[in-house]
Amino acid sequence: MSQETPSSAAIAAPAESGGTEADAAAVRASSDQPARQGDAFENLLHEDRRFPPSEEFAANAVVTEADYAEADADRPAFWSRQARELLTWDQDFTQALDWSTPPFAKWFVGGKVNAAYNALDRHVENGLGDRVAIHFEGEPGDTRTYTYAQLTDEVKKAANAFESLGVAKGDRVAVYLPMIPEAVITLLACARIGAVHSVVFGGFSADALRSRIEDAEAKLVVTADGTYRRGKPSALKPAVDDALSQEGSGAGHTVRNVIVVKRNGQGVDWHEGRDHWWEDTVGAASTQHTAVGHDAEHPLFILYTSGTTGKPKGILHTTGGYLTQTAYTHRAVFDLHPETDVYWCTADVGWVTGHSYVAYAPLINGATQVMYEGTPDSPHQGRWWEIIEKYKVSILYTAPTAIRTFMKWGKDIPAKYDLSSIRVLGSVGEPINPEAWMWYRDVIGGNRAPIVDTWWQTETGAQMIAPLPGVTATKPGSAQTPLPGIAVDVVDEQGESVPNGSGGYLVIREPWPAMLRGIWGDPQRFKETYWSRFENMYFAGDGAKKDDDGDIWLLGRVDDVMNISGHRLSTTEIESALVSHPAVAEAAVVGATDPTTGQAIVAFVILRGDAVDTGDAMVQELRNHVGQEIGPIAKPKTILIVPELPKTRSGKIMRRLLKDVAEGRDVGDATTLADNTVMQQIAASLKK
Ligand code: PRX
Repeated sequence: MSQETPSSAAIAAPAESGGTEADAAAVRASSDQPARQGDAFENLLHEDRRFPPSEEFAANAVVTEADYAEADADRPAFWSRQARELLTWDQDFTQALDWSTPPFAKWFVGGKVNAAYNALDRHVENGLGDRVAIHFEGEPGDTRTYTYAQLTDEVKKAANAFESLGVAKGDRVAVYLPMIPEAVITLLACARIGAVHSVVFGGFSADALRSRIEDAEAKLVVTADGTYRRGKPSALKPAVDDALSQEGSGAGHTVRNVIVVKRNGQGVDWHEGRDHWWEDTVGAASTQHTAVGHDAEHPLFILYTSGTTGKPKGILHTTGGYLTQTAYTHRAVFDLHPETDVYWCTADVGWVTGHSYVAYAPLINGATQVMYEGTPDSPHQGRWWEIIEKYKVSILYTAPTAIRTFMKWGKDIPAKYDLSSIRVLGSVGEPINPEAWMWYRDVIGGNRAPIVDTWWQTETGAQMIAPLPGVTATKPGSAQTPLPGIAVDVVDEQGESVPNGSGGYLVIREPWPAMLRGIWGDPQRFKETYWSRFENMYFAGDGAKKDDDGDIWLLGRVDDVMNISGHRLSTTEIESALVSHPAVAEAAVVGATDPTTGQAIVAFVILRGDAVDTGDAMVQELRNHVGQEIGPIAKPKTILIVPELPKTRSGKIMRRLLKDVAEGRDVGDATTLADNTVMQQIAASLKK
């Protein structure tokens, strides 16, 4: 299971070399065709379409061009102003940035701030208690509305309940919940008492949940009996029971209590003494709870994300800087007018977008938001547009995969609904191809609403590259400009900034407020992963290109991280899952271009000598096995059973060649293979 290192050749000179990872990603971003080589980015560059903001939009924009100059003049001073204007501090900070021990940054040193107070209580104190914070729409059609006053009470109750179960400042709380208001309430209740939440996406399996609970040494788990998926109940609690069972657990876990939200009413197994219904514990708790300020650098949350090894990384975020940058970007990039806008981010709370732009920033900014539990096609393919019409959503933030899916379903579906409330459209999670961008603009935005393509990562905590909708003339397919106060660059192999018109590696040159503060329990891995490739720069793992105007185009990952429907998965993690099956000797996984999901998982598997190849049955078994090890989202779309894998003389698997096969291309240069008949053997076995 050895692998090519994040290949340097992959990006050295995308323009002339052709057939590189970055080019492939550029093709992916520019067309639904299987990757052709070389010319893709040129096509993008020759796009001359520009969409400047209307005069009216620009005149009413909350943030103007002046922010760029102010931030350029003095970055820490710019962020200090934002921190003081956007947040209410219990104790002011004395130093904007301490960068004396890179790569460990401290922002707003000496400051004390409470995230939940800033998201809730202060709005109520300021007379906004009756403003709607959350319009919740359940998949079956049930709805709930929380005003700021009501949400504040719920969070205070949850904070009291968690404390009564012995959760204290610094303790970790694992959260395994669907998209229901209790998810936001749980996160804010943790933040209120200084407990550190670690959300695990509901699409991850019991095994994945167990390893995350153990790594973070969580004391409490908050979950639900289940949720609804496409009109049917779907369970969550059994995975928690399984994760906490002794069987299969390594060192054992530290969980003392489990709180269970009753959501779909399905029966659950009950562990007396450990399990508590939300309605009994939180429901019965007092609404009296005083928030105290936590240190600006107090840990706010851990969120596990896939890296290039089999073990997910617990990305650690702290309080003051994270809140400042998420709030600033939410206001600036979406041109938020909290008195009148209705904002809807479709991301699940299990991903970073659901943390920064559902649980925190909108509430810090006093916005009204929509939260939806289900899938876009339940009970019909117009569900999202129906929700937009119903709540008069003015800002929509979603992922390109969703947009491409709607394109497939056809524009007649959104055409049935009144989408005239939409003012700003956001995109996140993966490169958006110009065709999808144009469709989004025309069909959803009425050729009127600006699109903001936002590039960022779990690690960056908040948006880093995006247009400002009242300032930037947008270009279909490009995230364009680093935000004010953010120092992004594209560099070559040596770390030198590339000129306009060239490609390279995306880096961040200066610390930013919402930056990750480390990997939970592994400072060495933090340094090696992000700070060792280039001196004094954060390496994002993405390829990028500057066009002739200096605008940035994201070209996809240059490492072994895949992006499936905007969800991040590691090739190595899925390979590990496959080889843990008794029938598998070796496995190699690649992300192949997919017209809808951006990339799709394709696995090449060699069976053990004593295993019987049962064809489709074996493939199905292996897919299910991956589902069990990691979660349904990690199941390969295609599994190909092959006699051999292409390896170099030093034993590294040449994924590039497998990608060619997976994408139906002629196989590229195979001269470095130890055995150059391997590709023919694979081709022959696939024909069979
Ligand atoms: O490759 C980039 C891609 O998603 C990766 C980060 O994934 P994750 O940590 O799960 O966060 C996703 C939501 C912020 C990046 O390294 N990515 C994210 N946004 C974009 C993007 N690629 C191109 N364009 C984007 N707007």
